[in-house]
Amino acid sequence: MFKPSPGGTGANGSEPQVDKYPVIETIGLTKTYTMGDVEVHALQGVDMTVHVGEMLAIMGPSGSGKSTLMNIIGCLDVPSSGLYRLDGIDVAMLDDNALADIRSLKVGYVFQNFNLLPRTTAQANVELPLLYAGIGGRERRQRAEEVLKTVRLDHRGGHKPNELSGGQQQRVAIARALINRPQLILADEPTGNLDTRNSVGIMELFQQLNEEQGITIIFVTHNPEVADYCDRVVRVRDGLIESDERNSPVGGEAPPFQAMPSVATGQ
Ligand SMILES: Nc1ncnc2c1ncn2[C@@H]1O[C@H](COP(=O)(O)OP(=O)(O)O)[C@@H](O)[C@H]1O
Ligand SMILES: [Mg+2]
Repeated sequence: MFKPSPGGTGANGSEPQVDKYPVIETIGLTKTYTMGDVEVHALQGVDMTVHVGEMLAIMGPSGSGKSTLMNIIGCLDVPSSGLYRLDGIDVAMLDDNALADIRSLKVGYVFQNFNLLPRTTAQANVELPLLYAGIGGRERRQRAEEVLKTVRLDHRGGHKPNELSGGQQQRVAIARALINRPQLILADEPTGNLDTRNSVGIMELFQQLNEEQGITIIFVTHNPEVADYCDRVVRVRDGLIESDERNSPVGGEAPPFQAMPSVATGQ
C-alpha cells in the first residue's frame, strides 16, 4: 500500500505536520457496476490516506474512476468491497440516518455547475442546509451572513443566481458548503465553468479556507492549474492509483493561471 508522508504542509507552508490523523482512509476499495451482463470495474482496489488539513487533487482521464471515488468518499455511494474510514469511522457500519448526518455535517460539496436554486436569493441558497437541519430563522440568517462574509459576498445576499457572475455563483455554492462547518470539502471541477480570473479567485478562496480554517479539501480536476494549488496530486487510471505525489508547498504564493481549457473537453 502506498503510504504518503503524514500530514499536510504546516500552516506556514514549511514542515509537514506529523501529529495529524487521517480524515480519509481507504483500503482495497473496489466498485463494480453491473449493466445487464456487462460488469464495469470502476475502482479496482484503491488504497488512499488523506490527513486532516491536506488540499489534494485527484486527476485522471475520463472514465478512470474519479467521480466514483469522490462519490464513495462523500458517502453518496457505497463501495462493492474494501474498507472506507471517514474520520476513523468505518462507514459500512453506519445506518441511513448516520450517513445523512455525515453528508450534511461533515462534508461540504461543491460542483462544476454550482447547483444553486435558480429563483432563490444567495442568502436563501446558503441557508438551505440549515433549514433541512431544522435550525431556526434567526440563527440561519446569522450563520448565512457569516459565511457569505467569508466568501466576500456579504453585499450580494439578496441577489438571485442569474444576477451574479459565475465566480460569484460559485462563491455562493462554497458558502452553502461551509454553512455546517464541514471538516472536509469535496469539489468536482469547481473551476470548470469559470474564466481565468474567476478561477484564480475561487482557488485563492479554497486555499484560504484550507490554510486559515484547516478544512481538508479534495478536488477532482482535469486542470493542472487547479492541481498547482494543491499539496498533493493523486492520479487515477483504470480504477487504480497510478501515482501519488506531493507538490512543493504553495504557501501564499498563487501560481499563475494560464488560459482555462475548454469546458467541453468531454472528460
Ligand atoms: N452509474 C454507473 N453505472 C454504470 N457504469 C458507471 C456508472 N458510473 C460510472 N460508470 C462507469 O465507471 C467507470 C468510471 O466512471 P467515473 O467514475 O465516472 O470516471 P471519471 O469520473 O474518472 O470520468 C466508467 O467506465 C463509467 O462508464
Ligand atoms: Mg467524472
